[in-house]
Amino acid sequence: MRIPEHKIEEIRAAADIVDIVSGFVRLRKSGRNYTGLCPFHREKTPSFSVNPERGIFKCFGCGKGGNAFTFLMEIEKLSFIDAVETLAERYNIALSHEGAMRPEAREEIEALYETNRLAARFFHATLQEESGSDARAYFAKRGWEAGTQRVFGLGYAPDAWDHFLNHARTQGIDDDVLETTGLIVRKDGGKVYDRFRGRVVFPILSVSKKVLGFGARTLQKDGQPKYLNSPETPIYTKSKVLYGLTQSHRAIRDADAVVLVEGYADLISLYQDGIQNIIATSGTALTPEQVYLLSRYTRNFFFLFDADSAGMNAMLRGIDIILEADCDARMVELPTGEDPDSYIRKYGVEKLRSRINEALSFVDFVTSRFQAEGRLETPEGKAQVVHRVVELVAKMDDPIRREFYIHDIARKYGIYEHLLFQEMDKELRNVKRERPAAHPVSLSDVTENVTQEGGTLPREEQEFCTLLLQASTAMQGEVLHGIRIGLFRDRRIQSLLHVLFEQEEHDGHINTDALWAWVEDDIAMHGLLADMLIERTPVSARWAEEQNVRPVDERLLLLDAYKRLLHRHLRQRRARLKERLRDETDADQQREIATQLQSLLAREHAVRICDSFADLPDVEE
Ligand code: UTP
Ligand code: MN
Repeated sequence: MRIPEHKIEEIRAAADIVDIVSGFVRLRKSGRNYTGLCPFHREKTPSFSVNPERGIFKCFGCGKGGNAFTFLMEIEKLSFIDAVETLAERYNIALSHEGAMRPEAREEIEALYETNRLAARFFHATLQEESGSDARAYFAKRGWEAGTQRVFGLGYAPDAWDHFLNHARTQGIDDDVLETTGLIVRKDGGKVYDRFRGRVVFPILSVSKKVLGFGARTLQKDGQPKYLNSPETPIYTKSKVLYGLTQSHRAIRDADAVVLVEGYADLISLYQDGIQNIIATSGTALTPEQVYLLSRYTRNFFFLFDADSAGMNAMLRGIDIILEADCDARMVELPTGEDPDSYIRKYGVEKLRSRINEALSFVDFVTSRFQAEGRLETPEGKAQVVHRVVELVAKMDDPIRREFYIHDIARKYGIYEHLLFQEMDKELRNVKRERPAAHPVSLSDVTENVTQEGGTLPREEQEFCTLLLQASTAMQGEVLHGIRIGLFRDRRIQSLLHVLFEQEEHDGHINTDALWAWVEDDIAMHGLLADMLIERTPVSARWAEEQNVRPVDERLLLLDAYKRLLHRHLRQRRARLKERLRDETDADQQREIATQLQSLLAREHAVRICDSFADLPDVEE
């Protein structure tokens, strides 16, 4: 569910950053800005600054910065969407995720949510009543305390045909709506009755706590099916939902890791025992959408599936999806026959924690699976395993990670690295890279591997961007179409430029205020934007002012800043060539390198005398 960009901008514009920050920090006015002690790191003298005009904050001590959304995301550990929703509520701005939906359709959706909420409340209340005693006993047997039952909103649907149906009707809910939610079922003859009977109920919530659907477990020893779930409905798409994320997303973000289990029960038991960075796939195969959703919180996935063949196969399938999303997958092994819930009952949470800490890399996991099947014993089998692992490695986007794993495989299998690289190159040509294109630019693609906070930005690159952000619209277009993003070395800056480029292409101009909506959950990008925007006058422009030189031409300033980057690049290439020349013994090769050096020098000269973006000589990266 995506909130339209203009809505996000409306909320951002309405949000009073000073007011919001003041809830956590004592601020004092100082000139145009406000300052205070940074809430994100320990300090004695204030280096935390808020600029109300631009709606941004920035700490010059720890480097954190951003706008009102960022502040809430950081301090309350919210996702971007949650922060937007929180502020929308605070400033009374109606948020309809459905955006351009017909009003009737929106009402219909609302009716479904309302009905599900009513049902969840009703089942939860029933649990406390006389008729809920069996369910209470069942939960007690599983060791789930009252607090846990509340956190997960667990409930009970007694064994009757119309227990919920009657309640819903007294609340004036239409049978049609009830049927659409899947809470009641209509028989061929038209007679309606409750879907969930004699079962404990697990409501399935969205991150923003809407009730999407239900899972319900039988209390009978061999009742079939063991779990009965809501069908797919207009508000419940199984492939996009993860059980437990509502309760766990903060812990996932804090731990920068997520534990994946299969079952509702596994999740609840582990959560109660303190492993709270956890979600359940609810017995279905992990989907790319689910991985994308989780990748907002972390890129480190720990599979903790049942130690049976179904669980093993589900993990093997999951690896592909996780690697394709450029995330990392590790596998926790349990003794055969155990699931996480049974394991923790038998051995306790600490034992499970150490197993999680000893999780296998996906390479080792795949290897150990094949080994267990006896497939490493023949050369053919071994070749197959290596093919499979290299195929997985080729799914990663990051060449450095790929190389790391190739080293690892070479060592483990005693195979020459260059053979593996050859194999991987073949794979790389084969794999058609499809990424989940849920966002115009997937920032995470480019910001991976970047020091998230702290790491200072290269001054020259930052200065160029600051100038660009403050340039006229026409100039911005000219520059964006005249530069090579690959020349910038900082990947955060690269991704910013990609966003600017996309926005320019899409909207015909750059709107710095709207940029926030494009970077969503990427905290590093929030800080970067604040960096660029809090400093109104870039250094070079200030310098020009101070030196009292003629009114500066933005084109010249930008060109100058970009030329510096070009020069840096060309100089480096020249240095590398010189080194090669020194080591080269073959005369022909030496002549070849000398020619290249000449041409680089000529290009440096051409850059120096050039005075427009359009005429810059091309430099390959
Ligand atoms: P399991 O059969 O492993 O159940 O299914 P479990 O979680 O260990 O359940 P308990 O401990 O016996 O209560 C794992 C998950 O698969 C889905 C459920 O989401 C379940 O949590 N499932 C399983 C179903 O949807 N229907 C079923 O009939 C069985
Ligand atoms: Mn179980």
